[in-house]
Amino acid sequence: MTTMLHVDASVRGTRSLSRRLGDAFREGWLAQVSAARVIHRDLAAAAPPFVDEAWIAACFTPADRRTDAMREVLAPSDELIAELEAAEVLVIATPMFNYGMPARLKAWIDQVVRVDRTFSFDLARGDWPLEPLLAGKILVLLTSAGEFGFGPGGVREHMNHLDPHVRVASGYLGVAETFHLGIEYQEFGDARHERSVADAMAGIPGLVAQVAATVRRGALGDGARRSA
Ligand SMILES: Cc1cc2nc3c(=O)[nH]c(=O)nc-3n(C[C@H](O)[C@H](O)[C@H](O)COP(=O)(O)O)c2cc1C
Repeated sequence: MTTMLHVDASVRGTRSLSRRLGDAFREGWLAQVSAARVIHRDLAAAAPPFVDEAWIAACFTPADRRTDAMREVLAPSDELIAELEAAEVLVIATPMFNYGMPARLKAWIDQVVRVDRTFSFDLARGDWPLEPLLAGKILVLLTSAGEFGFGPGGVREHMNHLDPHVRVASGYLGVAETFHLGIEYQEFGDARHERSVADAMAGIPGLVAQVAATVRRGALGDGARRSA
């Protein structure tokens, strides 16, 4: 059994381009991979709570000393982390908002990147005290942007705080390898946008095959040990 966690961050419903990419990836995945299980986390249906003082206090209290109230505060985080832990493949479908990720996706990341659950913290490690506790996962990042030129060498590469941010944070989600496919030009609605959509959709079957082959090789360590 191979488990895929599919996270959707767009609030645009059926108009959403990132959802279109995520749905196509999921359909391709289910067609290609035997015994595939998909967990769908729709951040538009319910946004994860923001981290607040009570959350931080609960998080930094040792598990065996937490009160019922603290356990309640951490319950959404526990649920989201359990979904992540179960998955070898993490698919994040997201729009670009203000050159970064939408608040719903950031709220999800803040709930799942958690000390002593997904990373450990030890000052004995010197200047790099954080280490991930999960390993071997594959991230498939599917994005949509209104403007263009956010990729390597592009005219807006320096303004792209979406996939660089997700990639850095995903190190603390146990991600060992990332694949990215994106649509651009949505706000222009011209031929360049149509080509961008067509190219991205055409790239999905190859991406599914690439990710399935990576999982099958079991090349990513413990988290990817089960075969596709
Ligand atoms: C609040 C908001 C902020 C946005 N910020 C940007 C941006 O900074 N850069 C950009 O290229 N597009 C931006 N866009 C356009 C979206 O990225 C684009 O519409 C994308 O297709 C949305 O993804 P979706 O179709 O999956 O919902 C923004 C759209 C909204 C609604």
